[in-house]
Amino acid sequence: MAPKPSILQPTEVLIRVKAVAINPADYKMIDLGHRVTSWPLVPGLDGAGIIEQVGDEAGDFKIGDRVLAFFTAGDRSGSYQEYAAVQGKDVAKLPAKWSLEQASTLGVCYLTAVMALGIGLKTPLPFLEGGPTSGLQPSSVLILGGSSAVGAATIQLLRLAVPECKILATSSLRHHDHLKNYLGADGVIDRNSASLPSDVKSASPGSHGVDAIVDVVGAGRTQRDIFEALNPHGAKIYAQVWTGDDEIQAPDSVNSIMFRGRDLPQVPGNQNIVRTLAQLLEEDRYKLPLQVHHVGHGLSALEKALVLMRQGVSGEKLVVSI
Ligand SMILES: NC(=O)c1ccc[n+]([C@@H]2O[C@H](COP(=O)([O-])OP(=O)(O)OC[C@H]3O[C@@H](n4cnc5c(N)ncnc54)[C@H](OP(=O)(O)O)[C@@H]3O)[C@@H](O)[C@H]2O)c1
Repeated sequence: MAPKPSILQPTEVLIRVKAVAINPADYKMIDLGHRVTSWPLVPGLDGAGIIEQVGDEAGDFKIGDRVLAFFTAGDRSGSYQEYAAVQGKDVAKLPAKWSLEQASTLGVCYLTAVMALGIGLKTPLPFLEGGPTSGLQPSSVLILGGSSAVGAATIQLLRLAVPECKILATSSLRHHDHLKNYLGADGVIDRNSASLPSDVKSASPGSHGVDAIVDVVGAGRTQRDIFEALNPHGAKIYAQVWTGDDEIQAPDSVNSIMFRGRDLPQVPGNQNIVRTLAQLLEEDRYKLPLQVHHVGHGLSALEKALVLMRQGVSGEKLVVSI
């Protein structure tokens, strides 16, 4: 077991982690070594807990505050442990109505959705303090993987970024109600439809096709005809989140861009990203993207949760309380 981090940098807080949310990246690090520069490593990017100690320059926190945080896999800072040291800028106080289990699911998908908009589509980010105030205002966007955590976050943030945009998303049928009536997508298309591109076109403004596709699940690797859903006279953007595999090749006529976690500094206002998330929660402008599936309690439950994650989840976030 890793020792409790004891010497804090002045800019850090020590968090007693109470809830951990599992991400696909966790098992990709553990099994495949993705993004790992040295072993041993404590995984865990998402979590929430209670402030235990505060560095002198860490910000406006006090012992006992309930917080959500962006953790970093590493011996002192990964969330798969009881105590983790995190930079104060990556921590935000949690509104009382949010449980720690719910809050633990918010970080990675929100951060990735911000990149999908700020780097992938280059839209304005009016909800982000210091974020871009101008940019592409697509009239329609297709999100491939709407029932994934990143997809559910992207639907919500795109609505805030470009309120008039027609947001279409793909998912399996059982999640259509959640995406449309809870998250606010304008249209949801069965991801298993044999006529996916034409279904999307029919649902797009004037049936011309969408201006952009945001692929958060690597769907374009196998659904090669999806590019036919783009409006040939639109921006023709294909924004893909890095899923750990090689970049997905789009046709030459398409403006393809891949983004990954380390690209966050490219987004103006990125230093305010966690604080802005807490503000959105406080103002009820951002919802829990997916239901929490509480897998169990204790570090041993993490093993069980990782087994479930490897099998693949559908429209839910796996959470373990610690
Ligand atoms: N590079 C980065 O910085 C970064 C950050 C975060 C995530 N990621 C990557 O992004 C991907 C998504 O992460 P996540 O946490 O959001 O995943 P997740 O919630 O575990 O994704 C599961 C969902 O993917 C959906 N899905 C799978 N294939 C699909 C397809 N062909 N079309 C439509 N939906 C499909 C499933 O939909 P149904 O159940 O409806 O069928 C399921 O709900 C992962 O590969 C992850 O590693 C990368």
